[in-house]
Amino acid sequence: MENEELVNKLSQYTFYQTIDLGNGIKTPGLPTDVKQKKVLQLIGDMDLSGKSAIDIGCASGLFALEAEKRGAARVVGADHTEHNIECLREVILPHLGSKIEPLHVNMLDLNPEEHGQFDLVIFAGVLYHLKYPFSALKVVRDLVKSGGTMILETGIYDDYNRRAALYTPSPKDTPLKGRFANSCAFFNEKALIENLEYFGFRVVEKTVVNDPFKRFVKKIVGTLTTSFYPVSNIVIKCERDPSIENKALTRFYESVTGK
Ligand SMILES: C[S@@+](CC[C@H](N)C(=O)[O-])C[C@H]1O[C@@H](n2cnc3c(N)ncnc32)[C@H](O)[C@@H]1O
Repeated sequence: MENEELVNKLSQYTFYQTIDLGNGIKTPGLPTDVKQKKVLQLIGDMDLSGKSAIDIGCASGLFALEAEKRGAARVVGADHTEHNIECLREVILPHLGSKIEPLHVNMLDLNPEEHGQFDLVIFAGVLYHLKYPFSALKVVRDLVKSGGTMILETGIYDDYNRRAALYTPSPKDTPLKGRFANSCAFFNEKALIENLEYFGFRVVEKTVVNDPFKRFVKKIVGTLTTSFYPVSNIVIKCERDPSIENKALTRFYESVTGK
């Protein structure tokens, strides 16, 4: 694709991510920030030769492209926003000669029967946008092969973790108004880790990417007033280990029970 044609095509879309398309051309998204860099680093540290990966909520494919670079044989880029997937399919992937499979889907509809299971599931910047966060984690659990990896990045309700909590603000109350005020599910760190364990994910590495001093101040303010909710971003690498699941609880929540 000639440079002029490429720039022309890009001008028909809006972008969240900045993707380097070569020859000095980039998608005009936000600069790659510290949480995205951490996700890129975790993917970059993996040898994905011959492996499969899915980037859930892939936007313009930043993480899917990194997985492909690391040698993944099959990479799916899934997003529910049609223009993201159209731009990937029509512009970005053909231009880069990428074999990533663009998939227009609501992540809640992903399932192993139709989409397969993956060695790596990247689930970044999505969980806190979801009205059904537990269902979403269940979907992700079913997509990760036993022994496979999930890289999760999400917003957390940044309290002192005295209780495992899930803060589910209404659009009026959400601390991140953004587009449609659709940020609606913030686990605190304790609840996130404990629920990951429930879903059979063993945490290997976790990083809260925000400045420790600002976090501290925000936590104090959050305890002093009821109108301010401290939010930070956490990046977690975990391994799927079905042996740590609490089978009795899984059965109780996810199937019919006997007498
Ligand atoms: C904040 S952006 C994060 C993009 C990218 N993962 C990153 O971290 O740079 C959220 C993305 O998730 C997508 N998304 C939100 N809810 C979704 C859902 N239910 N199913 C699939 N994609 C979803 C949005 O379209 C958007 O591209």
